[in-house]
Amino acid sequence: MKKLIIEGGRELSGEIKISGAKNSVVALIPAAILTDGKCVIRNVPNISDVNILLEMMQELGSIVTFENETVTIDNRNVKNCRINEEYASKIRASYYFMGALLGKYHHAEIAYPGGCIIGSRPIDFHLNAFTKMGTKVEEEDGIFKLDVDNLHGIDIFFDFPSVGATINVMIAAVKAKGRTRIMNAACEPEIANVASFLSSMGAKIYGAGTSTIIIDGVDTLTDGYIDVIPDRIEAGTYLIIGALLGNNLTITGIIEEHLHSLLFKLREAGVQLDVKNDSITINRNENLKAVNIKTTVYPGFPTDLGQPMSTFLTQCSGESLFEETIYENRMRHIPHLNNMGADIKSFDKTAIIKGKTKLVGRNVKATDLRAGASMLVAGMIASGTTIIYNIEHLLRGYERIVDKLDKVGAYIQLVDD
Ligand code: EPU
Repeated sequence: MKKLIIEGGRELSGEIKISGAKNSVVALIPAAILTDGKCVIRNVPNISDVNILLEMMQELGSIVTFENETVTIDNRNVKNCRINEEYASKIRASYYFMGALLGKYHHAEIAYPGGCIIGSRPIDFHLNAFTKMGTKVEEEDGIFKLDVDNLHGIDIFFDFPSVGATINVMIAAVKAKGRTRIMNAACEPEIANVASFLSSMGAKIYGAGTSTIIIDGVDTLTDGYIDVIPDRIEAGTYLIIGALLGNNLTITGIIEEHLHSLLFKLREAGVQLDVKNDSITINRNENLKAVNIKTTVYPGFPTDLGQPMSTFLTQCSGESLFEETIYENRMRHIPHLNNMGADIKSFDKTAIIKGKTKLVGRNVKATDLRAGASMLVAGMIASGTTIIYNIEHLLRGYERIVDKLDKVGAYIQLVDD
């Protein structure tokens, strides 16, 4: 176990370069299994989810290297279709092996996926779609067995535009017979990134990034290449920190369009942003005003930035309303913020945040990944020392976080608990 020690209140200047997107790369790696050839994935963040997925690939028989932010995967010896239960239950994205192994071998065995405890997080959309594509799904002792003789294309309408289900069905459909149409598909940028990767292997995918995706199945795939898009949630987290502590802090390597909902809200609160091609320079503003945040699907305000943004709202004068609409349990960080001096009342999936409140350093917990980001923002602005326990959650999503913040002037240390 590790903990993060932060001395708050330091001004931040200089440059933070954004890494590749966690939620893209965690789908790109399993998707690579579809081809018998080689894949090169560039701009890969060195985070624990990536390392676990690469171990899973090796277990399936892939030869894997990871150096200079580049992963190479050689699938010529892949034979296995069963994923070790221990790996699968460690991370959410292990569910992408269902689509990938079904597409390739018409058979997959995998345990229920793990991930942050932020809601019930069912996978019924994934399994229902696979069933409609001809798959027999059985579950025994928490292990899903998926078998299909003739994986065929179908029309699917999701009740909700699920990121995971959209990507998983898209992966499986690449090698299915005939045409698959995914309607009410998720539009998050990570989906288009995965589609580009699959297309580089010869997949026929149209409309990824819109709410209707069409996939025409193909028999064979070639080698695959892709650059992972920048992590819009990592960028957003540093922009939030910059809005509170920046003195010409520049966040580089971003795609501005992916950050519109956050940039709009920051400007509404009074933050000055200087946006260039792929970077944003940000300065702190002592006179921020309250704004309302409602998380929703892309291009709306991302659920993964709701928690760090709620810490920002404690520094805005007036009453802000923070509403989470995707998950049931995105408020577990609130007691910790209140413990540090915030004035927040939360009911179910809504919080009323009164600002501006002075935050003081305390011992707090990262109850999940983005709750950890909320505590990080709080610790950075609080007076005195904040110690964040269970920091493994945070490290799952932010590459070299201590190094990146230390370089721009933060006092932050990662130590063994
Ligand atoms: N849902 C269902 N049934 C399903 C699938 C989803 O009811 O079969 C519901 C979920 O319970 C949730 C909603 O649909 O209420 C959205 O879930 P979605 O499937 O979009 O989420 P996910 O694929 O499990 C990914 C990211 C999350 C991110 C969400 C939303 C990965 C590995 N995870 O999760 O990332 O919050 O999309 O953008 O890509 C994080 O990075 O901290 C994180 C939680």
